[in-house]
Amino acid sequence: MNADHARHYFRETFAAEPDVIASAPGRVNVIGEHLDYNGGQVLPMAIDRRIYVAIKARPSETLSRVVSENQSVSAEFDIQAILRSGQWWDYITGICAAFPSRDARLPQIAAVVTSDLPSASGLSSSAALEVSTCVSLAALVADKRALKDLALLSWNVENQFVGVAVGVMDQFASALSVEGHALHVWCDTLDVEQVPMKEAVLIFDTAIPRSLRTSQFNQRREECDEALRLLRQRDPELENLAAAHPDEVRAAHLPATLEKRALHVTEENLRVEALVAGLKKSGSVSGETLYASHESLRTQYECSTPELDWFVDNARKIAGVRGARLTGAGWGGCAIAVGDFDALNDAKDELCTAYESSFRRKPKVWLTYAAQGVRVELNNQ
Ligand code: GLA
Repeated sequence: MNADHARHYFRETFAAEPDVIASAPGRVNVIGEHLDYNGGQVLPMAIDRRIYVAIKARPSETLSRVVSENQSVSAEFDIQAILRSGQWWDYITGICAAFPSRDARLPQIAAVVTSDLPSASGLSSSAALEVSTCVSLAALVADKRALKDLALLSWNVENQFVGVAVGVMDQFASALSVEGHALHVWCDTLDVEQVPMKEAVLIFDTAIPRSLRTSQFNQRREECDEALRLLRQRDPELENLAAAHPDEVRAAHLPATLEKRALHVTEENLRVEALVAGLKKSGSVSGETLYASHESLRTQYECSTPELDWFVDNARKIAGVRGARLTGAGWGGCAIAVGDFDALNDAKDELCTAYESSFRRKPKVWLTYAAQGVRVELNNQ
């Protein structure tokens, strides 16, 4: 999958050349899980699976049209009067609705979407679609807004237009990642730092349907908000949950469930700092820190599943694997193993066969290095 493919598909669909093409990647999170909406630190990286959006302006038309290679139904809408539809194109139309500023107005458009990034696997295809749409529109109308602003715009669309209350991690990773680096984000100040990351990452999709994910995710958010409210009764200056120290959490004697959630958040934040410091110093990821993160997600945040635990336990047995953990929200979705490319490559088929015979589900795996974030692939403007 590449920009040429998107261009050909555009030509086939609209019998014309696109004006612009942008592509944006999915992401995995190396460490810092469930911290973005708690004001903590995260360390995602872009993966080498991308969504491509190719667009041509249609200034003399009254409607816009978007066609996706992976969807049977295409979208037709007036870009000046957008309504939420509950369909796959809300990610695109939501961006079109939020994009205009005093200096940037949008014409009607013809657009295609092509992708080799699986959706519904927890690899942030929604963020990649938002970010690639946003950046291609910016190229189309020569808008000079900074990438970070476009990432925030995408994040707002996901929260307010699509209506999923996620943190900023996914849109930031898709927009701001740099090849060969993981992206260290402080989600309270929105500062970012590029951390060199040369190790290979095996992504393992457990293929568990993610029906539970949204409801459990929202429940965890509420539990974290409640834990913060109680901690603030003792410490009114506390800025966010991740800013508390684990000792402070223990001293507060929160209800048992809230204490577990708050301990995960506060300890995980310290793990991000430790892992980033180690990565900068030695160039390698601390495997023990990854395992500790998974254990905390399993026992304290309670967002793992037997399938994710199986993967972590089995990855641990492979020589050349440094560490493994679930990645993203949990409750199914993906896990990662970090380490030596050849070792991961040699082990992946066997892992798949063993998983399938244990769980009667076919997993998917990809091997990747830290990839480039969003990029403009073509600009004929
Ligand atoms: C999902 C959300 C992210 C983040 C992770 C958990 O992937 O989209 O914003 O909260 O869960 O770390």
